[in-house]
Amino acid sequence: MKMKLEALSSNALPKPSDKDLVKSNRVSRFIGQQIEKAGNRISFRDFMQHALYEEDLGYYASKKDIIGVNGDFITAPEYGEIFSNSIAKQCAVIINEIKGATILEYGAGTGALAVGILKKLSDMGCMPEHYFIIEISVNLINHQKRKLKEEVPELASIVSWISSMPKEFSGIVIANEVADAFPFERFVRADNQVLQVCIAKNKEKFEYDLIPADKKLCDYVLSLEKIIGYKLDHGYLSEVSFEAQDWVKEVACKIKSGVFFILDYGASRNEYYAPNRNQGWTRCHFMHHAHNEPLIYPGIQDITTWVDFSILSEIASDNDMKINGFLNQSQFIINSGIEESFNNFDQLELTAQIELSRQIKLLTLPNQMGENFKCLGLSKNFILNNNLFKSRDRAYVL
Ligand SMILES: C[S@@+](CC[C@H](N)C(=O)[O-])C[C@H]1O[C@@H](n2cnc3c(N)ncnc32)[C@H](O)[C@@H]1O
Repeated sequence: MKMKLEALSSNALPKPSDKDLVKSNRVSRFIGQQIEKAGNRISFRDFMQHALYEEDLGYYASKKDIIGVNGDFITAPEYGEIFSNSIAKQCAVIINEIKGATILEYGAGTGALAVGILKKLSDMGCMPEHYFIIEISVNLINHQKRKLKEEVPELASIVSWISSMPKEFSGIVIANEVADAFPFERFVRADNQVLQVCIAKNKEKFEYDLIPADKKLCDYVLSLEKIIGYKLDHGYLSEVSFEAQDWVKEVACKIKSGVFFILDYGASRNEYYAPNRNQGWTRCHFMHHAHNEPLIYPGIQDITTWVDFSILSEIASDNDMKINGFLNQSQFIINSGIEESFNNFDQLELTAQIELSRQIKLLTLPNQMGENFKCLGLSKNFILNNNLFKSRDRAYVL
């Protein structure tokens, strides 16, 4: 069954460079071949896997500028030190209480968060034993290594890149804007069945194709409807990331003691699958334009979806973790002691005062990153007992 989404034309977006266009055409040809091999359709999840992560070809594997002003989007640690300081202060509490605590950061992007955390922890005299990074993109690993060497040469030696989380891990696991980047399935609810969104080829163009969902996806949607207490409307389009769920399970099984912070844009299940969210949460980023059409420019635009924090917290609970708290990003920054940023405000140059105010606004205002971005704190054999989750904890919505 062919599906018509409200497809956005690439004319609504900025023009890519000739080099990026050539790259995107290569990625499209590769995906086209995969579609032919598979009998003229692949799942949306597989399309995304190829477009973002195909070795030497996908967006994260080979696009030069991804994060930052010259890239496609900007993340919280890129705005300045307030976000990384907030996380570092939480790390310090755990490092002081768990002997030999280690930090593990998933998907470290440009390395800005690692640099910021290490600087702050060093200032606090509270360094971890190790700082591990698990990063899927070789391109970004090189970027992270360069940045750490340039900006914190005296601290960089404790950082190492590993391919999977060690068993028996104690310390802090951090993932900022990683859960949204895992490949996900898209589905459409029809009256009598659940349909899986697939990608097919029509001449040289990609198009959506709907087929009866495989058992895993179908069972998931049916059990979701039982939990929310109503059947989704005919035509309802949404997403689920089984990869993100498997990842939380792996971390929860391997962490022996410590805290796992998942920071991302997302919502509780009730909000995520609310009747009025009938076009889902897929979000693409291209040259600082956000839109909802993943088929445009494969390999040179980012594809993401919002995170269903309820299912991630349940999987963590099922694997012996406790939900420490759930805050929106503004509250996370405020509860981490934002007033510290203003200690020397009067002594700053005017430009530095303006820059600091701008950073705080971007991180905390509801129409910027303050409301949609969340922090879920999960813990095992440890409770983060400082002020972080003492005020405006919204774990009750999960
Ligand atoms: C949106 S970026 C966020 C980067 C960084 N955390 C930040 O806040 O700027 C997503 C990051 O997750 C990484 N990533 C995606 N899938 C991953 C996986 N399965 N394992 C490790 N890293 C992954 C990407 O390469 C990238 O570094």
